[in-house]
Amino acid sequence: MLAVRVDEFGDPSVLACVEVPEPVVGPGRTLIEVDSAGVNFGDVLVRWGEYFGRRALPVVPGWEVVGTVATADPEGPFRVGDRVAALLDGNGYAQRVAAPTEDVAPVPGHISDQVALAMVIQGATAWRLLETLSPGERILVSGAGSGVTHLLIQLARQRGAGEITVVSSSEEKAAHVLRLGADQAVLSDGDGSLRDRLADQLERKVDLVIDMVGGETLEAMLRQLRPGGRAVVYGVAGGTPTKISTGALLKNGWNVSGLWLGHPGSLSFQEILAELFELSRSGRLNPTLGPVLPLARAGEAHRAVEARTGVGKVVLDCRPA
Ligand SMILES: NC(=O)c1ccc[n+]([C@@H]2O[C@H](COP(=O)([O-])OP(=O)(O)OC[C@H]3O[C@@H](n4cnc5c(N)ncnc54)[C@H](OP(=O)(O)O)[C@@H]3O)[C@@H](O)[C@H]2O)c1
Repeated sequence: MLAVRVDEFGDPSVLACVEVPEPVVGPGRTLIEVDSAGVNFGDVLVRWGEYFGRRALPVVPGWEVVGTVATADPEGPFRVGDRVAALLDGNGYAQRVAAPTEDVAPVPGHISDQVALAMVIQGATAWRLLETLSPGERILVSGAGSGVTHLLIQLARQRGAGEITVVSSSEEKAAHVLRLGADQAVLSDGDGSLRDRLADQLERKVDLVIDMVGGETLEAMLRQLRPGGRAVVYGVAGGTPTKISTGALLKNGWNVSGLWLGHPGSLSFQEILAELFELSRSGRLNPTLGPVLPLARAGEAHRAVEARTGVGKVVLDCRPA
């Protein structure tokens, strides 16, 4: 079968579409014939060899697929031919994958591959980031071009959030998040500091900060967190983690936590996806969709994600040509 493999870390040209051995399905695994694989920002870090110190080569990137069950797990709920989505521990850019059965979920016929893939990691992350949200709470979130942010804004609105403010790197992305339901956007670059712009634009401090950029962005956002407020960190896209003093935590009574989708939450992956698919079916949750490219053009897909042009969910078509 074909897969896209990285044999040396580097720019998108290192993504090579090659013949690889079939995956082996053991206990607790479901073999999926992949129709489409999602491309995520983290895949770019894997390709550069910068994903949380993971440096083993060769590596097949990809953490999410949609396809049909080819070999069912005898202990699992699925049958051969079922249409499913899966959250993987890697190896997703391939024509077949062996997925952990506990992270396989059914996909209704009315949900397209691209929408399903936008929900697997981005949607489930957005859902989990809002797990503690109470109606009326004011949110400050970074990454106006992020697929997670786009879904989070819509979910937060439905859950009765108060004012939603988004930090944006461009006017165009700012306009997009306002269309999705954000109340205001603050530009990350421009005259003066983000810290001052946030202080100028926010009338009151916020209850919840949600960040995936890190560095000075999170530092500036924390300045706007009210005493006793919460901050959730789920990425470091800017490449520099933020240093937060324990003195500041103590003095402000802040609760700062991290979110990692792979860790268990209050609902299972299947339960979260079922809710997200239903919201999508009823038109209440609309991911921003980007290009669909053949598996062999994974390099182009990575260039689109890395360019930060706000292209939306990028997907690889893995069906045989
Ligand atoms: N913890 C978890 O379980 C989990 C789950 C999903 C995603 N994530 C992380 O969450 C982040 C967003 O994921 P996504 O799927 O929404 O990605 P996405 O749609 O590809 O968007 C990428 C985001 O990263 C921002 N970004 C990229 N390079 C940057 C830089 N050098 N400085 C500042 N911002 C930069 C982009 O900024 P613009 O807004 O300017 O375009 C955009 O907001 C990624 O870091 C990803 O790894 C973590």
